Amino acid sequence: MRYMPVSFIQTPINSMEINEDMSHLLNWSKRNGTSFDTTNKTVRGRVTFDFSSVHSKDLLPAENGEKVTRLFLRELLNILLAYINKSQNRSSKVLDFHYPHQLKEGREGFSLELPDQPENLEQLLVDCRDTLKYGVKTGHPRFFNQLSTGLDIIGLAGEWLTSTANTNMFTYEVAPVFILMEEVILKKMQTFIGWSEEEGDGIFSPGGTMSNLYSVLLARYHFFPHVKTEGMHALPRLALFTSAHSHYSIKKSAVTLGIGSENVFLVKCDERGKMIPAELEYSIQTAKGKGLFPFYVNATAGTTVYGAFDPISDIADICENHGLWLHVDGAWGGGLLLSERHRAKLRGIERASSVTWNPHKMMCVPLQCSAILVRKKGLLQKCNQLSAEYLFQMDKHYDTSYDTGDKTIQCGRHVDVFKLWLMWKAKGLEGFKAQIDHCLENAEYLHCKLQNRKDFQLVFQSKPEHSNVCFWYLPSYVRSMPPGTERNRELHLAYSGVRATTVLRRLKGSVHVSKVAPKIKAKMMESGATMVGYQPLGDKVNFFRCVFSNPATQKADVDFLVDEIARLGSNLSHLKYEPNQGV
Ligand SMILES: Cc1ncc(COP(=O)(O)O)c(C=O)c1O
Repeated sequence: MRYMPVSFIQTPINSMEINEDMSHLLNWSKRNGTSFDTTNKTVRGRVTFDFSSVHSKDLLPAENGEKVTRLFLRELLNILLAYINKSQNRSSKVLDFHYPHQLKEGREGFSLELPDQPENLEQLLVDCRDTLKYGVKTGHPRFFNQLSTGLDIIGLAGEWLTSTANTNMFTYEVAPVFILMEEVILKKMQTFIGWSEEEGDGIFSPGGTMSNLYSVLLARYHFFPHVKTEGMHALPRLALFTSAHSHYSIKKSAVTLGIGSENVFLVKCDERGKMIPAELEYSIQTAKGKGLFPFYVNATAGTTVYGAFDPISDIADICENHGLWLHVDGAWGGGLLLSERHRAKLRGIERASSVTWNPHKMMCVPLQCSAILVRKKGLLQKCNQLSAEYLFQMDKHYDTSYDTGDKTIQCGRHVDVFKLWLMWKAKGLEGFKAQIDHCLENAEYLHCKLQNRKDFQLVFQSKPEHSNVCFWYLPSYVRSMPPGTERNRELHLAYSGVRATTVLRRLKGSVHVSKVAPKIKAKMMESGATMVGYQPLGDKVNFFRCVFSNPATQKADVDFLVDEIARLGSNLSHLKYEPNQGV
């Protein structure tokens, strides 16, 4: 909303305090000859302060800027607290959806355009409020759309502190405390993986995609250290292996590193989305037969869509036989290592050469927080070190192994570790365990519920391994089909051209199954009460994938999601199934 001159931001703070702050401002304003509109009003019993005559230049480090800085930040805090409260309030919407052109036009005066002249602080506060208003409340208990959800207050405090410290993770010199915290956290994570005291290295990186990139980079360097100086032309044609259900970041790593997407072999999975070890063996042999040099296998612990865990031990055996680097992408499933109930799903992870683990997913740490953990000590440094003299002087007066910046492919690096460290302190291991177990219980609850509904069908029947639950909402014409081949074909098959036309002819007037999820999703976003994702996968037409990583979500929210999908989907199809008609 655009600033209106008569509007006042309401500040529910102690009026004695604000009066003291205000008299300070008045004195300062008189001394400086500024025309500082210090209107101080009481609206409905709350002291208000008019920020319309204050600008960013009046904040610290301006002389006597402390008071107005405090008032401004308090007001911002009020805006954030109101947002946090709304995010937790089930009667408030998850989102207030607008199309891009509507936001660009400037909804209710909310302008994205950048001014030439400074705007006053009231306008900035209004802009902050509007930014949150038109965004998506990912901390809402009914937001099921992404793997990273939730709003952890301690994590939030950690992020605020991190921005306040505003330092850089490249050297101990400028980030002494954070560097040591990173060491402590990485060691802790390595303990859960099961590496020995002598093993283990790592670094926090900007997300799972980057952590996976590091794994391919390190594997390549491990086998071909001269790639660092001579480049790809000095290498044989490399081949890497990952399952058909794995995250696209593995292929992207091959593209980024000049290995090429054609040299990524997508290994077949079983019905449940787990890599089939015999298929991996076959793919490796095939690649070798074509003269390629296999060097790297990725096993996923918690696939993005199905939440499947690849059989790490069996894959490790194959890697050992062929002398390949085994990476475990635990971006999503790594958190389960903390749960006694679920950690066995990652059996064999200790045999990995590297592991990706994103605390910003299952551990509900605010974005971004991802670690690449490497079994072989010193490899990260050797692979990436370029010894920039202006940063990494070897003659510093402290142990320069704490200048960890040369382990990375970045120069400046954000402090991602503090919020995790603080959350660990606040919850202890017990707290993380409980919240992870709770999320998986929600998934089991949804799975059970859908098993008993006629208007939904699970994509696979077996119990969820992670917190992913995949399902179709069944339009009534599919629901009325008897269980069997034809109904399954509706749900599972990508139709050939001929078949598609016959099927579509029969379905004239109703909605094809593949369109159901997108249509419901569109309605869902417009009504804004909940959010869940959908996608096709392999031969399966569009289905919903619900994921749980927000500890605030309760069973009643799961009930709400199911009812809401049924409500939004109820009038999508109006043709009854008629056996053999036109097929
Ligand atoms: C299994 C898996 N690996 C890697 C990633 C990429 O992580 P990020 O989004 O942090 O880059 C994802 C993201 O969903 C994932 O599910």
